[in-house]
Amino acid sequence: MNGLILVTGGTGTLGREVVRLLEVQGRTVRVLSRRPPPAEPGPADWATGDLKTGRGIDAAVAGADVIVHCATGLGDVGATRHLIESARRAGSPHLVYMSIVGVDRFPVGYYRSKLQAERLVEDSGLPWTVLRATQFHQLILRGCEALAHLPVLPVPAGTAFQPIEAGEVAARLAELATGPAAGRVPDMGGPEVRGAASLALSYLAARGRNRPVVPVRLPGAVFAGYRLGGHLAPDHAAGRVTFDEFLAGPSGSAPADHGPGRVPPSGSPRSRRGVMAKRWSDLSPGTRKTIIVLGVAEAALKAAAAIDMKRRPADQIRGPKWAWAAGLVINSAGVVPLSYFVFGRRPAP
Ligand SMILES: NC(=O)c1ccc[n+]([C@@H]2O[C@H](COP(=O)([O-])OP(=O)(O)OC[C@H]3O[C@@H](n4cnc5c(N)ncnc54)[C@H](OP(=O)(O)O)[C@@H]3O)[C@@H](O)[C@H]2O)c1
Repeated sequence: MNGLILVTGGTGTLGREVVRLLEVQGRTVRVLSRRPPPAEPGPADWATGDLKTGRGIDAAVAGADVIVHCATGLGDVGATRHLIESARRAGSPHLVYMSIVGVDRFPVGYYRSKLQAERLVEDSGLPWTVLRATQFHQLILRGCEALAHLPVLPVPAGTAFQPIEAGEVAARLAELATGPAAGRVPDMGGPEVRGAASLALSYLAARGRNRPVVPVRLPGAVFAGYRLGGHLAPDHAAGRVTFDEFLAGPSGSAPADHGPGRVPPSGSPRSRRGVMAKRWSDLSPGTRKTIIVLGVAEAALKAAAAIDMKRRPADQIRGPKWAWAAGLVINSAGVVPLSYFVFGRRPAP
């Protein structure tokens, strides 16, 4: 089979890899994106369209023998419906859908919409294939980067992940796209199941950054499901690239929100010298108590100031001088981060 393959979401983390791999195999590929074609066109054909509104989708689908559906965002159900309607009008292309391990075990938001989209694909009347994968390394990395802006790095308590290299999932999708419709194929999970704290420590160590990692029990059905491991596929640990290997590689070592040169690569002099990540439990009891007391004091002062401010008419917002002075010092110094760096720093082993 060597017909046209349309990749929706061909500009995303997964989709771009699918496009690249199919091109390497000499396949004829078209990318669907909401954006206009790039100024310097690549080998793939380009279709501009929006799955949410259906605009441009008939033209994008025209002539496709296979559609690899990687696009995602708000409204995946409507998007998939538009895609299927256009695909039916265009003939009967093989529809390969990318889903997530555990969509049937998390009856909330995004997972629910992925499950509904799976059902639409299965009932579409088109030849279909559905692959579910665990979280990509890139997603865990993005989470760590966002949380590492805080003075302490909170992670969901009692939760493990099984991250997988998006390129490996892309290779499987490319294989499925060039084969016959296979229905629901075996799930694909990363090579290791690791605790959230352990992944965060790997991230910090690879970046030579220093933060206490604090497990926090997060509320809500998604995190309850995570604690039960509904998103894991330990029996399908098909991935080979570990999170640590990913972090040391080119896609893991150049995160978008760090300027070049600001992030010491793994094994750089700074990380070898060992200004290393530390668990909350590595701090001495006295240090932990100090940080908690200061944190509670800071929160109490802020709450007192907020209540005081609410009670006073707008032209009298002054409050007790001591509270404002203390609040000012605390807000400008940031007692919790400061106390951690004053009390918490230790030479790394
Ligand atoms: N990330 C994970 O950890 C993970 C794990 C397992 C499975 N998955 C699944 O893998 C698939 C790809 O995920 P990803 O992380 O690679 O996604 P991503 O990087 O966020 O990319 C999303 C893609 O969707 C396209 N898109 C969004 N809205 C669109 C619309 N209305 N019309 C047309 N295109 C639209 C975007 O294209 P433009 O912006 O160019 O329009 C972009 O290429 C998804 O189905 C996701 O559920 C992800």
